[in-house]
Amino acid sequence: MTAAQFAVFGHPIGHSLSPQIHQAFAQQCEIELTYRAIDAAPADFVSIVQRFFGEGGAGANVTLPHKAAAFALADEASAAATRVGTANVLTRRPDGGLAAHNTDGAGMVRDITERHGADLRGHGALLVGAGGAARGVAWNLLDAGVASLTIVNRSPARADALAAAIGEPARAHSRHWEDLGSLGSYDLIVNATSAGVLGSDLRLPGSLVGTHALCYDLSYGAAAGAFLAWAAATGAQHAYDGLGMLLETAADAFELWHGQRPDTEPVYARLRRQFR
Ligand code: ATR
Repeated sequence: MTAAQFAVFGHPIGHSLSPQIHQAFAQQCEIELTYRAIDAAPADFVSIVQRFFGEGGAGANVTLPHKAAAFALADEASAAATRVGTANVLTRRPDGGLAAHNTDGAGMVRDITERHGADLRGHGALLVGAGGAARGVAWNLLDAGVASLTIVNRSPARADALAAAIGEPARAHSRHWEDLGSLGSYDLIVNATSAGVLGSDLRLPGSLVGTHALCYDLSYGAAAGAFLAWAAATGAQHAYDGLGMLLETAADAFELWHGQRPDTEPVYARLRRQFR
């Protein structure tokens, strides 16, 4: 029997860690699989994904810029994917249809609460950014029990739209970017902007950082550098990048596909040495 086939689709995709993560999990669980990184330009995404599954692909991860297209393409979607409107996991059903799921937000919360040992319950959270990445984690912060979720975005309409989509005005609300200096301080600040990836300036006032604040960047490596340096300079007690989130989201996909939960810690420790 040939090994089951998996892949990650993105554009660009060259630096994806997903193949090495899934191979490490597979080795740990003694499962044989192939896992490729497939570059798909937006115009070709649907046909390339359909070909992959048509030729026997069992499951795929989907990353930028295809998460909304992956959700739209699927025949059914989990509650987590539906509320966000995007998918980072596609699974082939026995009848050949595709099921969409989104593990991003759950992965982030697990990284913060279990790997880093922070209890989010009852704390005030600030979500910076209101694009796809922010949407992917916003609901999960509320699920994790934050007392309030404040969403700020450079373009206010997107922050307003995300707060409206959440529809819990007593806990989740948007605020204007130009008011950042007067919002007071937060226990949790999540950077969900693409400023680090783009190498553009993210200007945040230090007054946002509470005494015991945890600052978290959804990206890792060089892309997270500027935000984490800002957090350290403002005296944040904890500052973490999203490498652990990547591992946790991958572990969720792995469990969905193989019915086994891999231990993320050894793989995290190995990758951590690459992304100091
Ligand atoms: P992603 O899928 O990575 O979230 P996106 O949907 O394009 O990408 O969203 C990018 C987010 O980063 C947006 O919230 C964007 O703010 P705007 O909506 O105002 O464009 C935010 N962003 C990018 N560069 C930024 C910068 N230099 N300062 C503040 N916000 C920035």
